[in-house]
Amino acid sequence: MSMSTTAPTTPNTATQELRVGVVGLGFAGTTHLDAFTALPGARVVALAGQESERLAELADSRGVEATYADWQDLVARDDLDIVSIGVPNALHHPIAVAALESGKHVFCEKPLATTGALAAEMVAAAETADRVLEVAYNHRRRADVQFLHDYIAPTGPGRSDALGEIYHGRASWVRRSGVPGITSWFTNKAAAGGGPMIDLGSHVLDIALYLMGEPRVTTVSAVAYNHLGAAGRGGGAGGGPVSARGSHAFDVEDFSIALLRFDTGASLQLEASWASYSKAHEDIDVEVLGSVGGAQLHVDAYATDGTVTLYSDVEGAPTVSRPAVHVPAGHHQRVIEEFLATIRAGDAAGDAVGDAAGTTAGGTGGRYAGHHGEYALHRSRVIDAVYESAATGHEVQVQA
Ligand SMILES: NC(=O)c1ccc[n+]([C@@H]2O[C@H](COP(=O)([O-])OP(=O)(O)OC[C@H]3O[C@@H](n4cnc5c(N)ncnc54)[C@H](O)[C@@H]3O)[C@@H](O)[C@H]2O)c1
Repeated sequence: MSMSTTAPTTPNTATQELRVGVVGLGFAGTTHLDAFTALPGARVVALAGQESERLAELADSRGVEATYADWQDLVARDDLDIVSIGVPNALHHPIAVAALESGKHVFCEKPLATTGALAAEMVAAAETADRVLEVAYNHRRRADVQFLHDYIAPTGPGRSDALGEIYHGRASWVRRSGVPGITSWFTNKAAAGGGPMIDLGSHVLDIALYLMGEPRVTTVSAVAYNHLGAAGRGGGAGGGPVSARGSHAFDVEDFSIALLRFDTGASLQLEASWASYSKAHEDIDVEVLGSVGGAQLHVDAYATDGTVTLYSDVEGAPTVSRPAVHVPAGHHQRVIEEFLATIRAGDAAGDAVGDAAGTTAGGTGGRYAGHHGEYALHRSRVIDAVYESAATGHEVQVQA
C-alpha cells in the first residue's frame, strides 16, 4: 500500500530543527518519542497510535502538538522531516514507503520488514527519494558490543587484528518463558513475519555480523518448532505489546536454530527462542572464534556489567580476561543520534560520514556504502532463508 503524497523536498537539514512524527505508543514508540525529545535539534510534533488514552497522556506529558489514531494522517503532513516507526512489523513497509515517497527520512524498528522482498522495496524507496532509512538495531550500540568491536577490530569480512582469521560464531537470544503476549500480533505470521527468529534472532544476527566484519551470508540450514507457545505455554510475565491481545492465531515458531555459511568460508550458529524447558532465563550470547583468539558477549537478564570475556594465549598459556565494561542505558538514543547526524551531514548515499567509512560508532563497516537500510535488507533476507529452510527441510541460498 502506498499513499498519494507530496513530492520530496530537500530542506536544509544541516541547521534547522528536524520535525519528527512518531507512530506507535508501545515500548518502541515510547522509546523513540523519548529519545527524539531528549536529543538537541529534533522535536516531536506529531504522534500516532490507537490507544486513545495513552496517546493523549503521552502527547500531553511530552508536549507533542498533534495526535492521530492512524498513521496515514500523520504521514500525510507535509511539514515533517522524519517519520519514526514503532508499530507491528507488517506495518513497517507501508508506513516507510509512504513516508520516503513524500520526502521524509525514516527511522524504523527492527526487523526492517516481515520479508526480504518487502524490505527491498523499502530500500529502493529510500534510494529513489535519497532519504535516510535507519533501523533500530539498538543492541549493537551497547557499550560492551562497541568494546568488542574495537577489540576485534575487524579489518574486513572474516579478518581481525586481535582474533586472526574469524572462522565461526555463535549467536543466540534464548528465554525460558518469554513469549511476548501469546495471541498478540507478535505471535502471528502475517503481522510479525515470524516468531523469535525475526524478533530476537535479528538482533543477535546483527551483532554477530557486525563483530565478524560483515561477511555475506550465502546459505542457511535451519529448523523451527513451536511446542510451547502454540499450546499456550511459555508466556512471559509483564512486557508484551500495548496493543490488543487475544485476537491473533499463534502460527509462528517459539524456537529456531540455524547454521549460516558466509562468503568468507566462515560460519555462524544462530539460535532464538521465546520459551524452552532449559536453564536460560533471558540470555543473549554472541561468541566469535578466531585462529588466534576468541571473544564473547554474554548478557544474562539484561546485565550491564561483566558481559565481556576474551580468550587468548599468553606465553603459550590459555588465558581468559574479563574487561570491566559497564553498559549505560540508552542504546536506542545512540542509534537515533547517529541517524540524526547522518541526516544533518546530507549523507544518505554514504559518501560523507558513517557506514561507508565505518567511522560512526554503530556503522557496519565498508561493505554497505549507503544509509538506505542496505545492511538491514541483508539481515531480512537471511531471516527469510531461515524460515524457508525450516519449512522445506533443505539448505537454502540467501538472495544476494
Ligand atoms: N529494538 C527493540 O529493542 C524493540 C523492542 C520492542 C519492540 N520492538 C519493535 O517495535 C515494534 C513495535 O513493538 P511494540 O512492542 O512497541 O508493539 P506494541 O504492540 O506495544 O505497540 C504497537 C503500536 O502500534 C500502534 N498501531 C497499530 N496500528 C496502527 C495504525 N494503523 N496507525 C497508528 N498506530 C498503529 C498501536 O496503537 C500501538 O501503539 C515492532 O516492530 C517490534 O519488533 C523493538
